[in-house]
Amino acid sequence: MKKFKKTFSFDDILLVPQKSDIESRSEIDTTSIIGSEKFSLPIISSPMDTVTGEDMAFSMGEAGGFGVVHRYNSIKEQSQLVKRAQSGRDYRVAAAIGVSDDFMKRAESLVSSGAFLLCVDVAHGHHTNVERAIKTIKDKFGDSVDVMAGNVATAKAFADLQEWGSDVIRVGVGGGSICSTRIQTAHGVPTFQSVLDCSRVVNTAALVADGGIKNAGDIVKCLAAGADFVMLGSLLAGTKESPGEVFQASDGRKYKAYRGMASREAQVAWRGKASSLEGVSTTIPYKGSVSEILPDLHQNIRSGLSYSGSRNIKEFRNKVRMITQTSAGLSESQTHILL
Ligand code: XMP
Repeated sequence: MKKFKKTFSFDDILLVPQKSDIESRSEIDTTSIIGSEKFSLPIISSPMDTVTGEDMAFSMGEAGGFGVVHRYNSIKEQSQLVKRAQSGRDYRVAAAIGVSDDFMKRAESLVSSGAFLLCVDVAHGHHTNVERAIKTIKDKFGDSVDVMAGNVATAKAFADLQEWGSDVIRVGVGGGSICSTRIQTAHGVPTFQSVLDCSRVVNTAALVADGGIKNAGDIVKCLAAGADFVMLGSLLAGTKESPGEVFQASDGRKYKAYRGMASREAQVAWRGKASSLEGVSTTIPYKGSVSEILPDLHQNIRSGLSYSGSRNIKEFRNKVRMITQTSAGLSESQTHILL
């Protein structure tokens, strides 16, 4: 019988606490790097139309990370969002593009509007169209703009995109909270496993773990597995800064929409028709401002590093010890007070 590779998801693993001499979380530096750009918070907001517009990109910059402004609008609208997200401050703002039609026209407008990074944003990143897009952008802009590409699920794909010139690579296929790719197409790899696999071939590119990250613990696990950054959708959706209106439902609570970019609703809004549905649209409880959520995540990431006795991400990766847990272990790991 054919042997199948055993893979691990976030909830399958835990990190073993280790001796520490860290007195305060303020001693812990979570800086991550893309080329010559340093970010004190290793978090990126996803280029989705219910996650990153101008307000989210601005707040991500303010918190020490950055946002990727979504591309589901006209070139003019997206370029204005990028300009406004900088608002006279020194915040770095990234912007998404596709791989077809006028993608280079969009790229040129976004770069002249101040985007420091272009994200070649497609569902299946291990593709010749992505190779062509990365090379065309690099030919045109050289090192004056960083390129992020993806998404990929395997070490082979990561190595290829790295060779094609991508400075940052999004890792994770089908793991997002609003994704139905694995259900509809049977393809994908657990995000944590993809990060582990891809981290072995990292050479020049930064690795971004993307999809299925549901709490600060998952962020810490991504950094342990070799990610330089995490990309967040659902954890940042439903906030004051995410695009879209807050509405009050019949239960009296406030909500906002959060939708996969391959959902029927997003596709119809974007191009007037829907085909090949690989995502869902939902509403999530309104969470208030990201300016309160991000510092909490940052503190929890620092705590995560301190449990492994580490003062920075590099040291953490070298020291970290991972174990697997059973489903009984997972039950114990979750809050489980008897009521
Ligand atoms: P989380 O779990 O943070 O995931 O909400 C966000 C990531 O999900 C991806 N994404 C999609 N994947 N169908 C998919 O299969 C979709 O409609 C879709 N929309 C977004 C994307 O990588 C995002 O960062």
